Amino acid sequence: MRRLQYRLAATLAALLAGVLAFGAAGNRSPAPLRLSPDGRFKVALFADLHYGENAWTDWGPAQDAGSDRVMAAVLDAEKPDFVVYLGDLVTANNVPIPNATLYWDRATSPARRRGIPWATVFGNHDDMAFEWPMEWFSPDGVPPVHCPPSVSDCSFRGTPRVDLMMAEVDRDGGEQGLSRSSVGPEKLWPGVSNYVLQVLSREKEQDPALLMYFLDSGGGSYPEVISDAQVRWFQTQSQFLNPDGRIPELVFWHIPSTAYAKVAPRAKSKIRRPCVGSLNREGVAPQQAEWGMMDSLANRPSVKAIFVGHNHGLDWCCPYDKLWLCFARHTGHGGYGGWPRGSRIVEMSENPFSVESWIRMENGTTHSHIVLG
Ligand SMILES: *[C@@H]1O[C@H](CO)[C@@H](O)[C@H](O)[C@H]1NC(C)=O
Ligand SMILES: *[C@@H]1O[C@H](CO)[C@@H](O)[C@H](O)[C@H]1NC(C)=O
Repeated sequence: MRRLQYRLAATLAALLAGVLAFGAAGNRSPAPLRLSPDGRFKVALFADLHYGENAWTDWGPAQDAGSDRVMAAVLDAEKPDFVVYLGDLVTANNVPIPNATLYWDRATSPARRRGIPWATVFGNHDDMAFEWPMEWFSPDGVPPVHCPPSVSDCSFRGTPRVDLMMAEVDRDGGEQGLSRSSVGPEKLWPGVSNYVLQVLSREKEQDPALLMYFLDSGGGSYPEVISDAQVRWFQTQSQFLNPDGRIPELVFWHIPSTAYAKVAPRAKSKIRRPCVGSLNREGVAPQQAEWGMMDSLANRPSVKAIFVGHNHGLDWCCPYDKLWLCFARHTGHGGYGGWPRGSRIVEMSENPFSVESWIRMENGTTHSHIVLG
């Protein structure tokens, strides 16, 4: 019964949030985002945290503690105005409890604790169902699995995208909350993390100085694609919010589009200008199809850059037509790859206008500084 009530409440709230997100970014109830008094807006990207791996071992929880430390170091050094959680917050296929929101809450807590607003997008691992490890069926047997006390049954089905986002918005959204995430319009489901945020100007109080578009690039419970419906939604939103292209725009999703593979430096080669970065250790693992998103973006001079995660061994930016395609930097200690962890920082300045980016490492150093517009 409680479950049914939850479902009803979740559905109603999802519908409402969808309507708000579709109406206009500026109509959402939380306090508007605004440039800092010096006319800047600094964003830290946390990519591929992969919380919740192997909770039944020592190394899994130790790895999660490592991810806590990376985010703390970056936030305390950079003091950003905003955080974007760029997908794969959790490795849900490895989370043996029915509700991945426990790990999701932990992933967002470094921003919450410091009072920094944030947005999340989904990666391919966030809503996967639990994959039973082969070795659990060896003579050693299945290790004890602990359901949280509040939960009566361990279901292992993976928490659906909508439930994850609803739990975040319930807990951290609204007027008092710091989450600016939203479930997006229902007509775009199963893609959920589709929404726009505007950042208001310092000089002209009510005017947006920056638009940030968040898209769900799929994966997990459905194919790794940006759908034709999402492309049309982006076109409608951008036409409505920024018809003359006067406002600069940045775009965030998890899985690189096929365009990334086209502009990529040869895997494992040195990164040369005009590309800028420090890690080029693997081939691009792109989305399964391209259904027009890249054309839509390339046709808008106001779009300055796209930011993705997914490939832990890549951290470069390369030009594509007049915009930049950037990888974030692997932030979490979860997930494959042993490269030092860090965070891509993006900073926009209103007057004179600029978008710059660099990578802040866990040990305090920075590198790969680049001007994106
Ligand atoms: C998952 O946990 C959150 C609390 O973190 C709760 O609000 C939500 O109802 C739970 N969802 C399910 C499907 O059990
Ligand atoms: C910080 O880490 C980087 C690797 O990303 C390394 O090259 C550099 O030497 C380290 N610097 C310090 C001061 O530890």
